[in-house]
Amino acid sequence: MTGRQDRTCGASSGRPASFPPRLRTPARSDNGVRDGRDVTFAPVLTETHSTTDHAQAMSEKAKIILEGKTYELPVIVGSEGEKAIDISRLREESGYITLDLGYKNTGATTSAITFLDGEEGILHYRGYPIEQLAEKSTFLEVAYLLLHGDLPNKRQMEEFQGNIRYHSLVHEDLKRFFEFFPNNAHPMGILSAMVNSLSTFYPKSQDPHRPMKDRERTIFRLIAKMPTLAAISYKNNLGHPYMYPSNKLSYVDNFLYMMFGLPTEEYHVDPVVSDALNKLLILHADHEQNCSASTVRMVGSSQANLYSAVSAGIAALWGPLHGGANQEVIEMLETIRNDGGDIQKWVNKAKDKNDPFRLFGFGHRVYKNFDPRARIIKKACDDVLGKLGVSDPVLDIAKQLEEIALKDDYFVSRKLYPNVDFYSGIIYRAIGIPTRMFTVMFAMGRLPGWIAQWKEMVENKEPIGRPRQIYTGITKRDYVPMKDRP
Ligand code: ACO
Repeated sequence: MTGRQDRTCGASSGRPASFPPRLRTPARSDNGVRDGRDVTFAPVLTETHSTTDHAQAMSEKAKIILEGKTYELPVIVGSEGEKAIDISRLREESGYITLDLGYKNTGATTSAITFLDGEEGILHYRGYPIEQLAEKSTFLEVAYLLLHGDLPNKRQMEEFQGNIRYHSLVHEDLKRFFEFFPNNAHPMGILSAMVNSLSTFYPKSQDPHRPMKDRERTIFRLIAKMPTLAAISYKNNLGHPYMYPSNKLSYVDNFLYMMFGLPTEEYHVDPVVSDALNKLLILHADHEQNCSASTVRMVGSSQANLYSAVSAGIAALWGPLHGGANQEVIEMLETIRNDGGDIQKWVNKAKDKNDPFRLFGFGHRVYKNFDPRARIIKKACDDVLGKLGVSDPVLDIAKQLEEIALKDDYFVSRKLYPNVDFYSGIIYRAIGIPTRMFTVMFAMGRLPGWIAQWKEMVENKEPIGRPRQIYTGITKRDYVPMKDRP
């Protein structure tokens, strides 16, 4: 807020005395659907509980004084003790809006999917610590968890896997689209376009009032077809024949088969590669209200179809400040190496405010201590390279760079630490993923998170996203005919 008026704003801290217990997801029902091309083995998706159930109003109120008048604003607290001042009625009552460039202090929603504490380096999906999920779970199990709120039992997991497997083929006509992209087209541009194109092959997806069962089918299709589309974009780039998905393989193995298999030869998935990819996908699966998830929610809030909302999320992820950083990191490390390996020179460039260079893979909007995903990936990096017998000189540069930066006051004082993208590219490289596909891998991992965020937004009946602004342009003036203009 800006202006001449006297204003104060304060809220007390502390967890409320009567803290709400965690709500359980309602029991799921069984009624399979069959309609021509589409078969779902069972309706796996049901309404999860409303996210607002977890937010509790505190007796404490925030007070804001504007032009001599005091407004009391509710204070709400989440299930992990996060606090917010609810300004929903502020403009209606006072005429003021709040201003927060980059939404650094603004909660766009309440959400029951992912909890993140940037100061403590904590990340939970539906309450489960990321460390446990990365070690013990599978990517599809985590996808189920994010979408439903609970881990699946054996039957639920089999049904979910069955549904995903069934939808992994893409329409033959869609495959022809790939032929018209330029040879060097970036796979993120292709992926975003292809995911949006899916909405034209499944026009029912454009109806925002369809029953939940039909929406489930869109969700299955998206999760199932994403690896197929990603692999085709890679094969297209190489000029190699596309591989049809193999339903006998797991989600991750099937992707590797479509990427690296050839119709002429047997392809055996290396379990080390499969495990590494499974872990990376889990680590990327959700990250609450980040740039791409917020984009998916925002686009979805206009009731645009899910394919289009996810396509917009892919575009948001592509940016080098977000998911595109994983490609930038490897390119940066290679540049440092090719430049003679003078790491201090590049650290100095990153610190120089007149130089646009930034240390990619460093810094995070939310993590101000460490990124728990980066810790897991750094360790996995050593494991995977060791098991595969790969020695990558850029890994040494990455480690030296991290060591130098973490001792440098510029990075320490700004709380800039390696993020998830810093070491992930080194693993992708070791398992044979080309650099320009790195962000596509991120998109595959983030997909269940985007869908869970969209689903929550729909189930909570959230209004269309539409921020306000403070206008700073020219005030009203009259039209000047061309002949009278200077
Ligand atoms: N290298 C050098 N300086 C940096 C870096 C960096 N990587 N990151 C932040 N800074 C500096 C900024 O210049 C700023 O300095 P100042 O206070 O002197 O002006 C200060 O640290 C704060 O940075 P902001 O850009 O204001 O922080 P913000 O929260 O807006 O940005 C971001 C976070 C975009 C991630 C930023 O740290 C960055 O650009 N990092 C590099 C790109 C990257 O790795 N992105 C991936 C993020 S993880 C993900 O999205 C999956």
